[in-house]
Amino acid sequence: MSETSKNSAVCPGSFDPVTRGHQYIFDVAAARFSELVVTVMVNPNKKGLFTIDERVAQLTAVTAHLPNVRIATWEGLLVDFARHEGIGTIIKGLRNSVDFEYEIPMAQMNRDLTGVETFFMLTEPTLAHVSSSLIKEVAKLGGDITDFVAPEIKTALLNKLAE
Ligand code: PNS
Repeated sequence: MSETSKNSAVCPGSFDPVTRGHQYIFDVAAARFSELVVTVMVNPNKKGLFTIDERVAQLTAVTAHLPNVRIATWEGLLVDFARHEGIGTIIKGLRNSVDFEYEIPMAQMNRDLTGVETFFMLTEPTLAHVSSSLIKEVAKLGGDITDFVAPEIKTALLNKLAE
């Protein structure tokens, strides 16, 4: 593994859509790694609200101020993406103990499979209740999501729901 890839990390997720909670994690992680690869994990069995291309465009927009962030997509095991890119660190945000319980087996499995380590970050406390699925539900039912997503994501979500 090269010096550069040693200091690279991957932040994986569905990002359907990206929230301010995700953005907080990107900002903090990008300041601590030489490169952060935000990767949309493609799950062929799960049809999201936004297409993968739309999610990539949204992630590109909300990380435009971070020169060391790159957006990627991957279908398959996350550890295979990490190996493909020569990345040894996965970044995951934790909002609460439910996230923790859900993430621990995946982190252990990913370590067992390839030795890739998972670093956990606490989310911004004011965003600990924010999830993509809750945002979609609130928006569908006419609630105001301004505080929880970037303006361009709010517009994209309202447009999508109006289709
Ligand atoms: O945003 P999400 O949906 O909570 O992200 C979960 C995700 C996509 C990061 C996780 O399900 C994942 O890593 N999937 C890729 C497939 C994989 O590697 N599965 C084995 C995990 S041990």
